[in-house]
Amino acid sequence: MFGKRSAAEKLPKGGKSADTALISDAEKGAAPQSVKPGAAEPNAGAFAGSPAASAGSSEEFILDRRSDEYYEIKTTVFNALIDTIDLAQLAQLDAASAREEIRDIVNEIFSIKNVVMSIAEQESLLQDICNDVLGYGPLEPLLSRDDISDIMVNGADRVFIEVNGKIQITPVRFRDNAQLMNICQRIVSQIGRRVDESSPICDARLPDGSRVNVIAPPLSLDGPTLTIRKFKKDKLKMKDMVNFGTITPEGATVLGIIGAVRCNVLISGGTGSGKTTLLNCLTSFIAEDERVVTCEDAAELQLQQPHVVRLETRPPNLEGQGEITMRDLVKNCLRMRPERIVVGEVRGPEAFDLLQAMNTGHDGSMGTLHANSPREALSRLESMITMGGYALPSKTIREMICGSIDIVVQTTRLRDGSRRIVNISEVLGMEGEVIITQDLFVFDIEGDDENGKVKGRHRSTGIARPAFWDRARYYNRERELAQALEAAEG
Ligand SMILES: Nc1ncnc2c1ncn2[C@@H]1O[C@H](COP(=O)(O)OP(=O)(O)O)[C@@H](O)[C@H]1O
Ligand SMILES: [Mg+2]
Repeated sequence: MFGKRSAAEKLPKGGKSADTALISDAEKGAAPQSVKPGAAEPNAGAFAGSPAASAGSSEEFILDRRSDEYYEIKTTVFNALIDTIDLAQLAQLDAASAREEIRDIVNEIFSIKNVVMSIAEQESLLQDICNDVLGYGPLEPLLSRDDISDIMVNGADRVFIEVNGKIQITPVRFRDNAQLMNICQRIVSQIGRRVDESSPICDARLPDGSRVNVIAPPLSLDGPTLTIRKFKKDKLKMKDMVNFGTITPEGATVLGIIGAVRCNVLISGGTGSGKTTLLNCLTSFIAEDERVVTCEDAAELQLQQPHVVRLETRPPNLEGQGEITMRDLVKNCLRMRPERIVVGEVRGPEAFDLLQAMNTGHDGSMGTLHANSPREALSRLESMITMGGYALPSKTIREMICGSIDIVVQTTRLRDGSRRIVNISEVLGMEGEVIITQDLFVFDIEGDDENGKVKGRHRSTGIARPAFWDRARYYNRERELAQALEAAEG
């Protein structure tokens, strides 16, 4: 049999497993409207809680319609199933075999529990359970919509989405927190993890690449909280950015040149401001014959070049072992003869290794970092290095930053939800202890229009010869650069 334990030996102990305990806690905690108070307790208790609910006991479930009873039976069968089946193994199967496995186990549970149902009813229950186990239940319609960038579930009856940069509530509801928890379980089991009271926080990924975070009770107070950053299959291109007003055509030309002539670039911005999307765009200017190694926490970048090695970090396993950090990856990268290194998000001591790489012949490396201005980005870089335990004088660290980073691009999500590139800045050098930067492009906000959209305009700051001019000339792009900068002056 496929289950990790046989249904018969597991069922009597169902109520004592952490799994069921958590689910019934969650049930008690919220969404009382979904369960008929009188009927729920005896059934749930008889099955999940009381020692009397052993295999072969004589309780009978009688089902006449899709009523509260139906859902109670479903919950009961579902909990028994979750307890019995090895979800991680189930995830390895294709949908049809997984369905067969579930069918076998559910039938076994039916007979152990003497569930009385017609064949048609059993079929529909099985169908429902399969959707819950193999799909993502009420999340499915949201997951299939391409216009949604984030899905935020705050307990069973509050589901928010982000569309076009704006957060809005949806009518989507889960039956109760137990169902939500089961779906969370289902999501994380695909990467061989569990969420329960003893490990209530988990990061995971959907098969389509979407990033998922789950935090469950008792840490989240109003039920399991699920956050999904949806993976966009068709990543925005530079021309989309121009169409959306994220950058002007001239600004896009300058960024293209920056990408092509192998400047070292840091993309700075807040969460969801479009850093990764912009990084992805910039990588499209990398030449086909360059060897690129990407390091990410969860692979999001989609490089089109033929010679790309993609690396991904690994969280520790349940025993706290086996973690591979971003720093491990970036260090290893250096032994892989990369021509460029692309780091999805710099957030810790790997900053040091990345800067070293940039300094030692891996020009054209790129990364994103969380900061609200180019200046802050540089000082965050400095503090990441300091906190990484390098006992270097701050002047030395700053010199290293100056020697490595050529360009900082700042992205912002404005209050109307639109994403803009608000600075393209160059790192020039040091004056005394201070890093000197200069803006090439800025976005000036001019107020709101009648629809509440932020009005503003991109302009170049009038610098005709940026510091990377020589690079541009080396790659024969200086004329194009001069034209774009001049055209954007205003
Ligand atoms: N310039 C843009 N215009 C409109 N939407 C954008 C833009 N850049 C990014 N997005 C969308 O915003 C969301 C977050 O983008 P992402 O690049 O992942 O942000 P970050 O890496 O800063 O957290 C994605 O859904 C993405 O498609
Ligand atoms: Mg990102």
